[in-house]
Amino acid sequence: MIALGCDHGGYPLMQEVKKHLDQRGLAYKDFGCSSEDAVDYPVYGKKAAQAVANGECERGILICGTGIGISITANKVKGVRAALCHDCFSAAATREHNDANMLAMGARVIGPGLALKIVDTFLDTPFSNEERHIRRIRMIEDEAI
Ligand code: RB5
Repeated sequence: MIALGCDHGGYPLMQEVKKHLDQRGLAYKDFGCSSEDAVDYPVYGKKAAQAVANGECERGILICGTGIGISITANKVKGVRAALCHDCFSAAATREHNDANMLAMGARVIGPGLALKIVDTFLDTPFSNEERHIRRIRMIEDEAI
């Protein structure tokens, strides 16, 4: 299950993402928002991030105008590793190296063609499972460092 969260800036692109996930037969849970009326991105970023953190969803996709506000929000939720990606190299690398569980994008930064390729790259790239990456990911949450 993929958690989706966006604000008004991300709403039109999120509709494209949903169509694409439908075409791929991938299940998602949409945490809003539900129109282009102005809303506050932390509300929707938090809802989607909490669903990933509590295991209800394995992955998440977040979209706001820049992708920045909603990714900052999601990364405040323990256990969430949200990666802001506007290219496929970063989307693959963050899966391989960071085991990122949420993808964030900015709808005012990239167009839908690239965004959908980034979505596919993010969803289809496995974590490397290499020891050094596992160690570094553990260190992110380690309060003793
Ligand atoms: C909304 O205007 C905009 O601030 C928001 O979508 C996002 O870009 C914030 O980081």
